[in-house]
Amino acid sequence: MPPRSLRLSLILCLLTFLALPGARCQTSTESAGFHGLPVRSNLVSPAVEKKIDALLKEMTVEEKVGQLVQYSVGAPTGPETGPGGYEEMVQKGQVGSLYNLRGVQDANFYQRVAMEKSRLRIPLINGLDVIHGYRTEFPVPLALASTWDPQIVEKAARIAAQEASAAGVRWTFSPMVDIARDARWGRMMEGAGEDPYLGSAIARAYVRGYQGANLSAPDSIAACVKHFVGYGAAEAGRDYNTTEISEHTLREVYLPPFYAALDEGSASLMSAFNTLNGVPTSANPFTLTQILRKEWRFPGVVDSDWTSIAELQAHGIANDGETAAWRAFTAGVDMDMESNLYHEHLVNLVKKGKVSEAQIDDAVRHVLRVKFALGLFEHPYTDESRENRGPLTKGNLDVAREAAERSFVLLRNEPQGSARILPLSDQFRTVALIGPLADDPQEMLGAWGAHGQAADVVTLRTALTQRLGAERVKYAKGADFRTATDEQINAAVEAARSADGAILALGEEAGSMTGEAGSRAHLDLPGRQEDLLEKVTATGKPVVVVLFSGRPLTLKWAFTHVPGVLEAWFPGVQAGPALVRTLYGDSVPSGRLVVSWPDSIGQIPDYYNSLNTGRPAGNVDLTRPGTTIQEKYVSRYVDEPNAPQFPFGYGLSYTQFQYSAPQLSTTKLNAQELCTALRDRAADGKTVVTVTANVTNSGKVAAEEVVQLYVGSRGTSVEEPVRALKAFQHVLLAPGETKRVTFALTPEAFALWDINNDRTVEPSQARIWVSPDSRSGQPVELEITE
Ligand code: NOJ
Repeated sequence: MPPRSLRLSLILCLLTFLALPGARCQTSTESAGFHGLPVRSNLVSPAVEKKIDALLKEMTVEEKVGQLVQYSVGAPTGPETGPGGYEEMVQKGQVGSLYNLRGVQDANFYQRVAMEKSRLRIPLINGLDVIHGYRTEFPVPLALASTWDPQIVEKAARIAAQEASAAGVRWTFSPMVDIARDARWGRMMEGAGEDPYLGSAIARAYVRGYQGANLSAPDSIAACVKHFVGYGAAEAGRDYNTTEISEHTLREVYLPPFYAALDEGSASLMSAFNTLNGVPTSANPFTLTQILRKEWRFPGVVDSDWTSIAELQAHGIANDGETAAWRAFTAGVDMDMESNLYHEHLVNLVKKGKVSEAQIDDAVRHVLRVKFALGLFEHPYTDESRENRGPLTKGNLDVAREAAERSFVLLRNEPQGSARILPLSDQFRTVALIGPLADDPQEMLGAWGAHGQAADVVTLRTALTQRLGAERVKYAKGADFRTATDEQINAAVEAARSADGAILALGEEAGSMTGEAGSRAHLDLPGRQEDLLEKVTATGKPVVVVLFSGRPLTLKWAFTHVPGVLEAWFPGVQAGPALVRTLYGDSVPSGRLVVSWPDSIGQIPDYYNSLNTGRPAGNVDLTRPGTTIQEKYVSRYVDEPNAPQFPFGYGLSYTQFQYSAPQLSTTKLNAQELCTALRDRAADGKTVVTVTANVTNSGKVAAEEVVQLYVGSRGTSVEEPVRALKAFQHVLLAPGETKRVTFALTPEAFALWDINNDRTVEPSQARIWVSPDSRSGQPVELEITE
């Protein structure tokens, strides 16, 4: 028994702990260390587990390890390192998965070897990076997310699954859900931007689309959520670079979209290339075992990224291949993509006793669960007549066009005479169409184009010519991406002079400047495009820039001098028709930014859901309203505003929307009650407060608005973002129409990861905004009581 004084101070300590906000949220089942509910999954059933048990009993260690080995055959999507001779390896049961195969015949060929020549007839699972379409290419993922429309994302993913599965692909390495706050990082293009709430909604939509209602249906493919985790936080935006993320920020910002994808049933997950807080993510026991398997209880496959196991040697945590394999495997990576190290070393590691056979069985079980769920044991082959039947149907192309239209973000639309420059009117009798992206079909496909083909693309030039007639379109390329001659530029200026106005299709090159290994240190227009733009604008003719990019570009000059700027991203096969319909007002832009658009590179990383700091600058001082802070000693730059060029959530329309102040159904909630509901699966989706606001279309055209709801909390044990997205809704409004928009908020809207990194709701003062973007609107207050 400790002395009395020590006992007293222990009791005091306990009392203080219990009095801490957040520490009191307890249920009968969970007392402390609550990390959220396990993910939901259909992969496990008693019948399947029995089949797996039976198979495992028959398998040799070599055959088990074979299930954990994966190679690329066909067009490589990384440095080629595989040993080759895959037919023989498949026959010997040494391969569990192939990827990058060229089509259905190749897929069936290798499957036949597995099913007819290998001892145990375990089917292969055939993978491919189907990122934003298979043959019918949709806008790149950042663009798809800019629709803020999970339904269209789901539709696109469904079509991609149908087309890919017809080619024998049953596993896509998508969605990429890495939160990205740095536009220098080329892979920002592949994700859903900077926000965990929106990113989670989009992640779920991809999984639903790929996997369909039933993973075993022949047109469903397994999703693979990637890259676990923190890959998007690469220092200085340089691909593959180191990341440092606190556990709090990891849980609050970077992990939620992964959780969402897995909770939606994603059958697999890919580990990443980056080192996270000193430990490479393809050998990180904290993320791969503690979080993924113990807290989330994920039952599916963890695949490595391309050679990320071999790269543990370059990271310096393994001096040879055997150690690299051992580290990755024991941390929780089931399958080795392309490193060839599980094949070479795992059996030996078992023989040496460094890896147990039970551990191997666990990993094999994860792989087999997915193969069973896909129905591959019963239906290993793909009906070859499907491959050419499906793609590019009218229905698929309509979805591609609609997705592109909904993804465009109107950044600037200034008056030209009595009206704004967009939509273009017929006063533009003749149009000069200028720029490297006006007529480049390959570029419209964006990076990671899977089996998309340039011949399928309708460019802006083609579509504009179809609409106006060849005599009204004066095309002059003006510049290439990296170079331009004075003659090229002069010819474009001449074209603009002789026309009523100019459309400039400018931007970056998809293949080399965006996507993997596409980081940029400069975010302006490459080559002489800025020069071209300034010279064409100097003609005095009305100018619209259509910007093609996989990230925000810092175009200060354009944003002050050019009357119209439409961000088009890389729009896919229907780029031209979607753009022409938007430029001429048949379709009204409703896309909204999913990343803050920096004013200059010096602001990066910039993201709207940042913390207030102790010395906030300007109007973001929420803690001391009315207080004047010495301007010098605040968190700011001396040579640049803090505010981005355009905030997260921003996007103009061809009309204007007015918002009323939001109203709450209650102004008080109880932390304990919210917290209890948060921890109870049965209370999932339980509404605790409704928030309403009137939104009015005060302009002259019918249009869709994305109404956004943000919450900020103060008085919590950890500093929370000034405001964070917690809900959004699309509302279609006729001119002059007002609609009452209602949001039903659940405890999730007020949940946070507290000072102990537990998931909870704390007594606090919450503010709620209903607004058209993350910068505007007036908040209402809600108290969360003890
Ligand atoms: C490397 C990329 O990082 C990953 O996203 C992709 O799925 C694999 N290569 C396979 O191509």
